[in-house]
Amino acid sequence: MPPLKFSMLFLFVIYLLSSQFSFTAAADPTYVHHVCSETANFTRNSTFESNLNRLLTSLPTNASRGNGFSRGFFNATAGQDANRVYSLFLCRGDQTTNSCQNCVTFANRNVTRRCPVSKDTIVWYDETEIRNRN
Ligand SMILES: *[C@@H]1O[C@H](CO)[C@@H](O)[C@H](O)[C@H]1NC(C)=O
Ligand SMILES: *[C@@H]1O[C@H](CO)[C@@H](O)[C@H](O)[C@H]1NC(C)=O
Ligand SMILES: *[C@@H]1O[C@H](CO)[C@@H](O)[C@H](O)[C@H]1NC(C)=O
Ligand SMILES: *[C@@H]1O[C@H](CO)[C@@H](O)[C@H](O)[C@H]1NC(C)=O
Ligand SMILES: *[C@@H]1O[C@H](CO)[C@@H](O)[C@H](O)[C@H]1NC(C)=O
Repeated sequence: MPPLKFSMLFLFVIYLLSSQFSFTAAADPTYVHHVCSETANFTRNSTFESNLNRLLTSLPTNASRGNGFSRGFFNATAGQDANRVYSLFLCRGDQTTNSCQNCVTFANRNVTRRCPVSKDTIVWYDETEIRNRN
């Protein structure tokens, strides 16, 4: 078999495998818009930042305990006074518990990349909206 044909066949097999993979993997949520308020920023490595990070990672776990994903809404808070963080999510009414959970988990991981220092953020996806504020 000539090498060219062989590598074409090889590429075709890779293509089949990868398209099957992307077909079965959960799709990332569809990003719509975000707002990072520029009027209040937090300091890197501050108590506010650590409260925010704790909330962003614990909220998906706590929401699943409290059935937030099946209701499509959950809010939580961390810290006190000036370092208090409020966080909430709202999933579109037709979202399954699973897709709501996947979207919120994804959104909470990604928000600090979109808004690295803002105390007040909103990110909209087609499936979910998340909000964090002081
Ligand atoms: C907050 O941070 C953003 C992005 O770094 C900056 O553009 C903005 O001026 C800052 N706002 C204040 C009030 O410091
Ligand atoms: C924040 O803390 C980390 C680890 O302690 C350190 O590497 C980093 O330089 C700090 N960043 C700022 C802006 O202080
Ligand atoms: C998550 O649940 C744990 C255990 O009930 C609780 O200690 C923690 O404060 C909760 N976190 C949030 C952000 O609600
Ligand atoms: C957030 O949850 C608390 C109870 O945990 C509730 O009192 C408060 O009204 C909620 N806030 C919003 C915006 O729903
Ligand atoms: C997260 O947000 C950034 C924008 O700040 C974007 O470039 C990136 O693709 C997003 N997704 C993931 C999976 O990190």
